[in-house]
Amino acid sequence: MAKVVIFSGAGISAESGLSTFRDTGGLWEKYRIEEICTAGCLSWNRENTLSFYDARRAQLASVTPNRAHEAIAKLQEHYPKDVAIITQNVDDLFERAGCKNVLHLHGFLSNIRCEKCSFTYAIGYTKQNRDLICSACGGNLRPDIVFFGESAPMYEHLCVAMEDCEFLVIIGSSGNVVAMDHFARQMKYSILNNLERSDAINEYVYTKVLYKKATEAVDEIVADVEQFLRK
Ligand code: APR
Repeated sequence: MAKVVIFSGAGISAESGLSTFRDTGGLWEKYRIEEICTAGCLSWNRENTLSFYDARRAQLASVTPNRAHEAIAKLQEHYPKDVAIITQNVDDLFERAGCKNVLHLHGFLSNIRCEKCSFTYAIGYTKQNRDLICSACGGNLRPDIVFFGESAPMYEHLCVAMEDCEFLVIIGSSGNVVAMDHFARQMKYSILNNLERSDAINEYVYTKVLYKKATEAVDEIVADVEQFLRK
């Protein structure tokens, strides 16, 4: 398994033009989590919920990967067995930059999923067709997004990946949803890169802290990881 885990959140895609969630002007200032991203929304607020994710897909179609996604893709290309990419992001910007086997903890915007049998269908950047049902079992279809209060099956894979991790890099996550500090404590090397301090992260457990844009921090991050992997 990979010795280096690059763990990211919305901040890495911010410079591509996708809003983060909790920064000033972030998505959760404009929308209420309880109304479009919480277990049960699809029962009482279905149309608004589906429309919200239709709009996210349309926005995703209009943006491209940035230097940070690209530099990480290059790093992984050089060290395919040693670098794992784990993200809370539901966008496909890592994939478009050339990254392989990206673990998406919170789902994937370009997929819809059967509520009953969990079969997924790729719909790209299009609107979800409200008339379609699952061709496998006839169940209702929904965005393939993990809502608050729902189980997140990929967290198990995160824990497995962290067992072999020796160098943890966090880029662009406030730590409010997935707390990584306890993993960082176990590492010999760890880097935290955000724009600023977060109340949900203990910066003292990281061996290096870079408060700057991901596109400005990524060269130093890649250089440190390469130095570690060459040892
Ligand atoms: N470069 C680096 N970091 C940045 C940048 C940037 N250009 N812009 C913002 N950031 C940092 C902010 O400083 C903040 O710490 O990115 C972080 C964004 O935090 P959140 O908006 O809370 O995003 P994230 O941690 O990914 O949210 C986790 O919450 O709503 C859910 O499911 C959603 O996966 C998401 C989860």
